[in-house]
Amino acid sequence: MAIVIAVANQKGGVGKTTTAVNLAAGLAIWLQHEARSPNRVLLIDTDPQTHALMAIAFGRHLAAPDGSLAALLIEDPPPSVQRMIRRAEHHHNLHFIPNNTQAMTDARMRIPSLMARETRLARAIEPILDLYAYVIIDTPPTLDDLMINALVSATHVLIPVEPSYLGLSGLKELQAAIGQVRRHLKRQDLQILGYLPTRCVTQRSEVQEILDYLNESFPGQMLSPIHETTDLIYAHSAHMDVFTYRPPRSRQDGRLASASRATQEYSRLVEEVVKRTLRPVKV
Ligand SMILES: Nc1ncnc2c1ncn2[C@@H]1O[C@H](COP(=O)(O)OP(=O)(O)OP(=O)(O)O)[C@@H](O)[C@H]1O
Ligand SMILES: [Mg+2]
Repeated sequence: MAIVIAVANQKGGVGKTTTAVNLAAGLAIWLQHEARSPNRVLLIDTDPQTHALMAIAFGRHLAAPDGSLAALLIEDPPPSVQRMIRRAEHHHNLHFIPNNTQAMTDARMRIPSLMARETRLARAIEPILDLYAYVIIDTPPTLDDLMINALVSATHVLIPVEPSYLGLSGLKELQAAIGQVRRHLKRQDLQILGYLPTRCVTQRSEVQEILDYLNESFPGQMLSPIHETTDLIYAHSAHMDVFTYRPPRSRQDGRLASASRATQEYSRLVEEVVKRTLRPVKV
């Protein structure tokens, strides 16, 4: 069964999409060098804006409403997810479910009135979980049914946090939502994979103070930070993950060496995620 990671924080612009895309691509690259089966990664973008899909398959990321993620969420029974899946541009073992912005916007309005509204994504993707090592779910910046569907589908939640005073707001509500999903929707196993400081600007005086506060508040749960770098902005506007935009120079002892800080930091995230989620090899 796949390890399913929801990248979530209802605060906008904290690096959810950047993290979902680069974690998915980084895991796909890591799996290409491992004798593991399955060795594929699936990226699901529950944000109607489809920015995550644009980064991995620009031009092929959209589909007609009935062949899109929106149909999986609102139709009863859901259409076949296997038939929808497409391959990303730069990594043969990275797959995605195309979406349709208008249909997804409509779906978001309709879901609250549908039966089993919180479990619709989980039910739709259940048939393919054995085909993937990892499923990464990007979520929109709202604590609504789309986010709850992502949490219910997940085994782990990865929480990007911007280290600013405003960046900490909303964490309590997110933790409460995760608690409610565990209790009321019977997902006791849902784990917080970690808090990921993103968009860190070391020169800003409050950053270290906030990182210290986060380390004290969430001992053992902090992941190594991602700094603010132009590579991540340029990669996204070039519709690429950072490993494609600034490829690692070499790969030694399972570690990627790169001149780009962004590539290095996202490869370290991949290592940390693998370490925290790894299951015994099934060849
Ligand atoms: N480490 C970083 N360095 C520089 N720019 C970054 C970094 N992370 C994200 N960005 C940029 O910040 C903006 C917001 O990032 P992103 O889209 O990943 O956040 P988000 O949490 O998904 O936003 P939303 O809540 O709107 O979905 C984007 O323009 C992105 O390119
Ligand atoms: Mg986003």
